[in-house]
Amino acid sequence: MNFLELTKKRFSVRNYKSDRVEQDKIDYIIECARLAPSAVNYQPWHFMVVVSEEQKQNLRQCYNREWFARAPVYIVVCADKSIAWVRKSDNKNHADIDAAIATEHICLAAAEIGLGSCWVCNFDPELFKANFRLSSERYPVAIVSLGYIQEQPDHFTTRKDKDEIVTFL
Ligand SMILES: Cc1cc2nc3c(=O)[nH]c(=O)nc-3n(C[C@H](O)[C@H](O)[C@H](O)COP(=O)(O)O)c2cc1C
Repeated sequence: MNFLELTKKRFSVRNYKSDRVEQDKIDYIIECARLAPSAVNYQPWHFMVVVSEEQKQNLRQCYNREWFARAPVYIVVCADKSIAWVRKSDNKNHADIDAAIATEHICLAAAEIGLGSCWVCNFDPELFKANFRLSSERYPVAIVSLGYIQEQPDHFTTRKDKDEIVTFL
């Protein structure tokens, strides 16, 4: 499978089988996230793999959707701005960018090994912090739900045309 094929294979999966995801698959996905690039290689991330029923309940409160509650496993990608690179000229902190790259590595790795995934950012970050008692600097950037796909969707999302989004100078 080349990269374009992998890119096409990934899509947001919102219906999962209840089947457990094997530990070696989770390990593979985490390894792909660990090797993601980051600004100045500061790696300002932390990955919370949510597998216990108790913690799944805590997480599901933060994003209360039926489909989300059916995912068998979640990876929460957290970042820490105090570790990330800050561009001097305008003080831009790159923690979110680094975390986003790692998040997409997770989704692509999942697709490669036959798992479905979905990025979730529309969760309640304050409730998350309260439920998971993060250290003051660490915060959740994205939750990725993971699992085996129940059924392929009958339609896929579309993308803007190349002419609309690319300029050759
Ligand atoms: C940063 C980001 C945040 C997202 N947050 C959510 C979310 O909270 N809930 C959700 O159902 N999907 C979420 N998505 C999934 C997008 O809706 C989806 O990627 C987009 O519609 C394109 O569809 P596709 O992933 O199937 O290609 C998010 C995606 C990204 C990249």
